[in-house]
Amino acid sequence: MATMESLIGLVNRIQRACTALGDYGGGDQAFSSLWDALPSVAVVGGQSSGKSSVLESIVGRDFLPRGSGIVTRRPLVLQLQKIEDGKEYAEFGHLPRRRFSDFASVRKEIEDETDRITGKTKQISPVPIHLSIYSPNVVNLTLIDLPGLTKVAVEGQAQTIVEDIENMVRSYVEKPNCIILAISPANQDIATSDAIKIAREVDPSGDRTFGVLTKLDLMDKGTNAVDVLEGRSYRLQHPWVGIVNRSQADINKNVDMMAARRKEREYFATSPDYGHLASKMGAEYLAKLLSRHLESVIRARIPSITSLINKSIDELEAEMDHLGRPIALDAGAQLYTILELCRAFDKIFKEHLDGGRPGGDR
Ligand code: GDP
Ligand code: NA
Ligand code: MG
Repeated sequence: MATMESLIGLVNRIQRACTALGDYGGGDQAFSSLWDALPSVAVVGGQSSGKSSVLESIVGRDFLPRGSGIVTRRPLVLQLQKIEDGKEYAEFGHLPRRRFSDFASVRKEIEDETDRITGKTKQISPVPIHLSIYSPNVVNLTLIDLPGLTKVAVEGQAQTIVEDIENMVRSYVEKPNCIILAISPANQDIATSDAIKIAREVDPSGDRTFGVLTKLDLMDKGTNAVDVLEGRSYRLQHPWVGIVNRSQADINKNVDMMAARRKEREYFATSPDYGHLASKMGAEYLAKLLSRHLESVIRARIPSITSLINKSIDELEAEMDHLGRPIALDAGAQLYTILELCRAFDKIFKEHLDGGRPGGDR
C-alpha cells in the first residue's frame, strides 16, 4: 500500500513539474501527453450547485472564493500532496517561491490572480490557476475546480458565455483519463442537472463519473433523495454520495471546516431518511472513495504510463544533451526534475511488479 501511495505521489509531482515546465515555455507535446495520461478529477456542475464547497470539504480547508453568481471564473488545478509531517502550506504555479501558510491569503491570491487575467468583470478565462497544497491531512489527489455551467448570460457578460463555459468544461471532461465529479443540488430535479447532462454526453457508460448530491439539507420538507442516492433515478457505475456543505449563513458566521464536518456527520447519522446510508455519505467518505478509485486507475494504467514515461525519459535525455545551448535556467532545472521523477516512477513501478502485484488486482 505504501508503494501505491508513493506512486500516486509521484504522478502528482510529475504533473506539477510538467506544468511548471509549460509555464516556462519549455513544455512540448511529450509533456502534455504525459499530463493527459495521468488521471485527475474535474468538478463540474451548474452555477452555485456547491462545487467549490465540495472541494473545500475534501481538502478540509477554507480557501476558495465562494458564493452566489459566477465566482469561479478560471479553472483551478489543485494538487493535494500528502507530506509525512510538518506544517501545511500552499504554493501557486505563478508564484513558485512563495509559501502560503495562511489560507485566507490563498483565497485572496486566487481572487487577485483571477482578476489579473479577466479584469474585475464577470468574464471567464480558460487559463488555469495552479495551486498545490502540501499537508499531512490530505490524500494525494489532483482536483480541478471549473466555472459553473449556466443557462443565460447576465449583465456584463458576452452573449457567448454559456457556450464558452460549456466548451471549457468539455475540454477537461472529454479526456478519457479525467474522472468526473458531477455535482447536482438536491433541491433541484435531477433530470435538469447540468452536471449529469454533460457527464452523460462524454461518459455514457458512467464509468468515470462520480455523482455527488449537495444541499440535502435544503430539500422541501416531506421529500428526500433516497431514489437518487440509491442509484434508481440515474444509474452510474459508482455509488452516489450525498453531501451537506456549509450554508451561506454558516460561511457568514465563520463556521469552521472541522465544525462543518462534524455537523455533516451528525446530519447523516441522525437522519430518518439517510441513516441507513450514513457510512457512505459525506465529504470525508467522498475523498477516500476518490483516492481509492484513483489508485485503481493508476494501477490499471501503469503499463501505459510507464511506456509514456520511458518515452519521455528518452526525449528528456536528448533534450538535456542539448542543454549546452542557451536555455532558461528554470526550464533546465524543471527538465531535470521531470527526468528524475520519471526515473523514480520507473524504479518504483519495477519494485511494485517484483512485489508480485501486477496491475489490476485488489
Ligand atoms: P459553486 O458555484 O458550484 O462553486 O457553489 P459554491 O460552493 O460557491 O456554493 C454556492 C452557495 O451554496 C454558497 O452560498 C454555499 O454556502 C451554498 N451551499 C453549497 N452547498 C450547500 C449545502 O450542501 N447546503 C447548504 N445549505 N448550502 C450550500
Ligand atoms: Na458560485
Ligand atoms: Mg465555484
